[in-house]
Amino acid sequence: TGDVTYDPGFMNTASTTSAITYIDGDEGILRYRGIPIEQLAEKSSYLEVAYLLIHGELPTSGQLENFESSVLRRTLLDERFKRLFDGFPRDAHPMRVMQAGVSALSTFYQDSLDPYDDEQVRISTARLLAKVPTMAAYAHRVAHGHALMYPDNRLSLIENFLRLTFGFPVEDYIADPVVVRAMEKLLILHADHEQNCSASAVRLVGSAQADLFTSISAGIGALSGPAHGGANAAVMTMLDGIRDSGMDPADFMEKVKNKEKGIRLMGFGHRVYKNYDPRAKIVKAIADEVLERLGVHDERLELAMRLEEIALADDYFVERRLYPNVDFYTGIIYKAIGFPTDMFTVLFAIGRMPGWIAQWTEMIKDPATKIGRPRQIYTGLPKRDYVEMHQRT
Ligand code: CMC
Repeated sequence: TGDVTYDPGFMNTASTTSAITYIDGDEGILRYRGIPIEQLAEKSSYLEVAYLLIHGELPTSGQLENFESSVLRRTLLDERFKRLFDGFPRDAHPMRVMQAGVSALSTFYQDSLDPYDDEQVRISTARLLAKVPTMAAYAHRVAHGHALMYPDNRLSLIENFLRLTFGFPVEDYIADPVVVRAMEKLLILHADHEQNCSASAVRLVGSAQADLFTSISAGIGALSGPAHGGANAAVMTMLDGIRDSGMDPADFMEKVKNKEKGIRLMGFGHRVYKNYDPRAKIVKAIADEVLERLGVHDERLELAMRLEEIALADDYFVERRLYPNVDFYTGIIYKAIGFPTDMFTVLFAIGRMPGWIAQWTEMIKDPATKIGRPRQIYTGLPKRDYVEMHQRT
């Protein structure tokens, strides 16, 4: 293989240096720009974390005010987006609709596409952070045949998103502050995770000098897969399946261990964490808080806890060091708030937006960046001649 190293899935290959996010998979540690995720989830806001990830430091109050106002005044979407969203079939998956919408941003905002112009990148960053939640809400409403509402920029980004998703033009919608704070924490927990599949997709596309919107739309595509962000929806489908069939959770776990039809315990396992995912702990606490506040009893929460209990005491999972990841309990919170399962991965994408932008920006500014171009080990046939059609058997 000459000087080429074979490393499927990049198990052991660092594609970049990065100063954004630190993970210690053995210890279950996650930090953004050095600050522990637990502190950020407790004390910070989504836009403050976005600033931290993108700019490297916590903002002063003046910097945060400017950043927030540059985002909030851009939440409106061009009217033509309504026609774009209307054009999709009713049953189109909102994640795909959102990917198409983000891709379309590069046709509407051609004045902010130059990756090497700092001011243009600043504007496209604000546009993405502002418009993606609006798009997510629209993707949801169009699927349900509901009227689209205009953002109300007196509200925070998250209050606005909840209102655009669940409110109706004829009545005031006031989100429960416990729900708003829970959403804020969940978005913070999802904001970055170093060189995961979607961040790597964003960097790879960006390394060809594609614009920020186009690079991020590649990230949304990667995130949609069930082995990545799609896992949060797959967990709910799994829990629904076990509940509706009346199956004993222990029997389901036997199927997982026997790898029957390739079944996996969704929301478990991670390429980097070989310990409890620190995000999963915080998510479980949020689930308890939100369900109590909303007076929701969801038997799927008990079911998930039972599956976790079985897994943590079972050799199959212990030997492979499989623990709950961030996706294991999030769906139960999203359901309690009112989101349908197909919106779960869209919520992950809203959360991950600051991380993708930070990764792309770091890549663009890094003098060591080269176009991403992995090598291969050729396993095909040696040279042979073209065979005329009439001579083929
Ligand atoms: N259930 C049952 N067995 C599993 C699971 C699981 N969830 N995850 C891994 N394994 C087994 C796997 O079968 C393999 O066993 P063996 O050595 O006998 O072949 C061993 O553990 C190693 O697994 P792997 O697939 O080689 O590990 P990976 O690092 O390539 O995959 C993963 C990581 C996250 C894709 C995988 O653990 C998985 O498919 N989990 C379920 C999907 C999921 O929850 N994904 C969300 C990940 S966290 C958030 C995000 O990235 O979006």
